[in-house]
Amino acid sequence: MKKIVDLLSEDIKKAFVEKGYDEKFGVVTLSNRPDLCQYQCNGAMAAAKAYKKAPIMIAQEVVDLIKDNDKIKEVTAIMPGFININLSDDFIAEYIDEMRNSKDFGCEKEATPKKVIIDYGGPNIAKPLHVGHMRSAIIGESLKRIFKFMGNDAIGDVHLGDWGTPMGLVIAELKRRKPDLVYFDESYTGEYPSEAPFTISELEDIYPAASAYSKENPEFLEEAKHITLLMQNGHRGYMAIWNHMQDVSVVDLKKIYDNLNVSFELWKMESDAQPYITDMVDYLKKNDYAKISDGALVVDVKEEADTREIPPFMILKSDGATLYSTTDLATIVERVKLFDPDHIIYITDKRQELHFERLFRCAKKTKLVKEDMEFQFIGFGTMNGKDGKPFKTRDGGVLRLEHLIKMVTDEVYNKIMDNRNMEEEQARQVAAKVGLAALKYGDLSNQASKDYVFDLERFTSFEGNTGPYILYTIVRIKSIIDKFAETGKTINPEARILPASSPVERDLGLQITRFSDMIHLAYLEQAPHRICQYIYDLADKFSSFYHDTKIISDDYSEERQSSLILMITLVKEILLTCIDLLAFEAPERM
Ligand code: ARG
Repeated sequence: MKKIVDLLSEDIKKAFVEKGYDEKFGVVTLSNRPDLCQYQCNGAMAAAKAYKKAPIMIAQEVVDLIKDNDKIKEVTAIMPGFININLSDDFIAEYIDEMRNSKDFGCEKEATPKKVIIDYGGPNIAKPLHVGHMRSAIIGESLKRIFKFMGNDAIGDVHLGDWGTPMGLVIAELKRRKPDLVYFDESYTGEYPSEAPFTISELEDIYPAASAYSKENPEFLEEAKHITLLMQNGHRGYMAIWNHMQDVSVVDLKKIYDNLNVSFELWKMESDAQPYITDMVDYLKKNDYAKISDGALVVDVKEEADTREIPPFMILKSDGATLYSTTDLATIVERVKLFDPDHIIYITDKRQELHFERLFRCAKKTKLVKEDMEFQFIGFGTMNGKDGKPFKTRDGGVLRLEHLIKMVTDEVYNKIMDNRNMEEEQARQVAAKVGLAALKYGDLSNQASKDYVFDLERFTSFEGNTGPYILYTIVRIKSIIDKFAETGKTINPEARILPASSPVERDLGLQITRFSDMIHLAYLEQAPHRICQYIYDLADKFSSFYHDTKIISDDYSEERQSSLILMITLVKEILLTCIDLLAFEAPERM
């Protein structure tokens, strides 16, 4: 379905042309003064300059031509030359009725769908997930769903960190603790045990211990680095431990992502790109893209227009070791080979921006990707505590993701138990859904690049601009629909949504019509917060409507009764679609 702004623009453009002006002046937008009108066209002001005429005259000419348009109830020319438009209630009702009967509410999809890889995992095996990984996951999952909704082939890749010094640290620490393990016996040639020599909680304990120990003991760090190098070169025993680390971590990570309602099409790891490195390095050298600088192999990625220092992109360290940058470049080679994507998006903390800027330049300059391949970096801000500093645990440590989730669901659980009588078991299940909504909405309702304050009290509130409030609205609509079903009445398949009979009903209808505008904006700007804004307004308009209007009544004609039920059902469906795009779910009751 065409958006209303486009339908109106077509008509107004025609009017401009008919009066002898260029059609470009006829662009209609949503009104920025909703108290005055619903839509507006400001083209007469620009046309006035071009045609040396008073803007109000041009506006009036256009208004006279379109005032009988049946989409329009009122159209007025306002000094100095605004054209203010209000839609007819018949048209709004027809439009939302058509939305109700169209796939995805009539939202028009991407005209040239693309294959997009979205890199939004990035946890490191053997290390617990922290809040930064949570933000990537929450934002990335939503963006992936928006891309898919718009008709693209979007592929999420978890891109696990499994190849750097942390692996060597864990192995070195394990060796310190259990030197007798068969993996450390250099003369051993048999099969290694299939059971890992650690559980996930032991593994998670090993890394922080090793990292702390390495800071006090430089020789231990050296050993860890050496082990990393040996592992990367295929040392049997270390590779076997590394495989155990992967297996144990992946099982655990899948569980965590599952709890976050996040899923990846690809479970690739940094190590998967390793087989591509040798050829890539040869290629870069052979074509003179890479040069030796202080012993290291680098690609210069400075550009003339740069206003800041852009260091060269490092491919190999002077000792021949590979780095984060090497792996990311090789992963691009791998992705091109396996998927031939049109677009790759990376979502990480914005502090990694310079790395990605240089990575993109390097891949383009060295022609490892086709010229029109689109790279994009979406950097997010920090989740802060109420003191404005990065959110920490009470004892000042880095907050683990599971603990954060538990904190939020416990808070919601207590709220539910305080207010309502629900079985504990059921309350736990409801709290899991509502808690996740609180956490995700609290995050996604902000522009991703901004820092935000994690406010447990506010995020979990059932009122205001929160996830729980949105879910509460959905649950409330469901219960009204259930109540209607209990009356034994049914909706005639011929029934339709009727023109609004009150201002609040009109406002709700208008908000419904804006679904596609919102999705297109969220897609264009890659901004899930647009969805949050929209559903908050929709829930709010529903709430005003609900307080003003009796929805089920024996006094209504069958048509009116059906229309109201169809309308609130549509609101519910839209809200459900939107929260699905934000990747959380509604419970049956709250
Ligand atoms: N593992 C990295 C970290 O924990 C994030 C990886 C992001 N993705 C990438 N392709 N570099 O910071």
